[in-house]
Amino acid sequence: MSIDLRSDTVTRPTPAMRRAMAEAEVGDDIYGEDPTVNRLEERAAEILGKEAGLFVPTGTMGNVIAIKIHTEHGQEVVCESRAHILDWELSMTAWFAGCLVRPVYVEDGILTWTKLRDALRFPSPHCAPTGLIEIENTHNMAGGTVYPMDVLQEICENAHGHGIPVHMDGARIFNAACHLNRPVRELAAPADTVMFCLSKGLGAPVGSMLVGPAKAIERGRLYRKRLGGAMRQVGVLAAAGLIALEEMPHRLGEDHANARFLAGELAKLSGLKLHPERVQTNIVVFDVSATGLNSTEFIARLKPHGVLMSEASTPREVRAVTHFDVSRGDCAQAAEAVAELLANAGGSACATQLRS
Ligand SMILES: Cc1ncc(COP(=O)(O)O)c(C=O)c1O
Repeated sequence: MSIDLRSDTVTRPTPAMRRAMAEAEVGDDIYGEDPTVNRLEERAAEILGKEAGLFVPTGTMGNVIAIKIHTEHGQEVVCESRAHILDWELSMTAWFAGCLVRPVYVEDGILTWTKLRDALRFPSPHCAPTGLIEIENTHNMAGGTVYPMDVLQEICENAHGHGIPVHMDGARIFNAACHLNRPVRELAAPADTVMFCLSKGLGAPVGSMLVGPAKAIERGRLYRKRLGGAMRQVGVLAAAGLIALEEMPHRLGEDHANARFLAGELAKLSGLKLHPERVQTNIVVFDVSATGLNSTEFIARLKPHGVLMSEASTPREVRAVTHFDVSRGDCAQAAEAVAELLANAGGSACATQLRS
């Protein structure tokens, strides 16, 4: 079997999750009668320190529901220029919420109030006002980077001072909390709403949560129905989600250590550009342009060596993500496979023209 570093979404449910799914107590969730979903929503809200929670099938749906809750049609949503909501969600911000995305580039993906404030727009006869600031924590395509608490607080305090809400795409907020060694509720506190995924590093087969004020989540429940995301005896999925939430966060540090190890090994190989000391969580993004290959070619040539990686934001970058289905040994083997690829590619790869 291949060593699959494409994403932490590839994890398979643990035996405990499968057992809990088989035994889950269920009811019709659209009537609010699924006890397992109700427990998951309560626990998610409690752990994140918010009033209420909503179980959604995907992170994409959780994000777009949050954007819809906070904004009106014709407003702008400010986010970092490689944000998941901008690049990887089929323009749902425009399609469902009717808003324009205003991106701000920061090399490490971590916005600051100073960077953000020039992108904000206020009501005028000419400009669409900013309806929402969206921050991604950890920032996926910037390499799993984490918002320092003071930066997060400064953004949220200033945004609120201007009457602008903040939504956190916390798909990997538990990885961020692990890196900072802080309770996840501290990271969630400054933001109005937080979406996080049960199905990534936490290992559940399906599902994400949106948490926030009770009134906002009630509206979110209706948007979920409109999007076709309201489900019936969905306690079978929530049961796995509860285990992901309660039992999996404590082991994320292992994935982070593996990612740092992998980055260290890759950094030894000539042709790859990366900074292992900047790896904070479970994502390693590295520049392959000096090999003469673009990311698609690099990934295709790596596959026969039994290692899967994925594309990042530009054709120069490749992404590797560690998770609980890959070990330290797998990471060592993956780095060896990359070394072999580079040795075989030799001069011919370097002669290949890079696509811009
Ligand atoms: C940062 C971030 N936000 C949101 C999502 C969307 O999650 P889903 O694939 O469940 O829609 C992802 C998925 O990879 C992500 O990395």
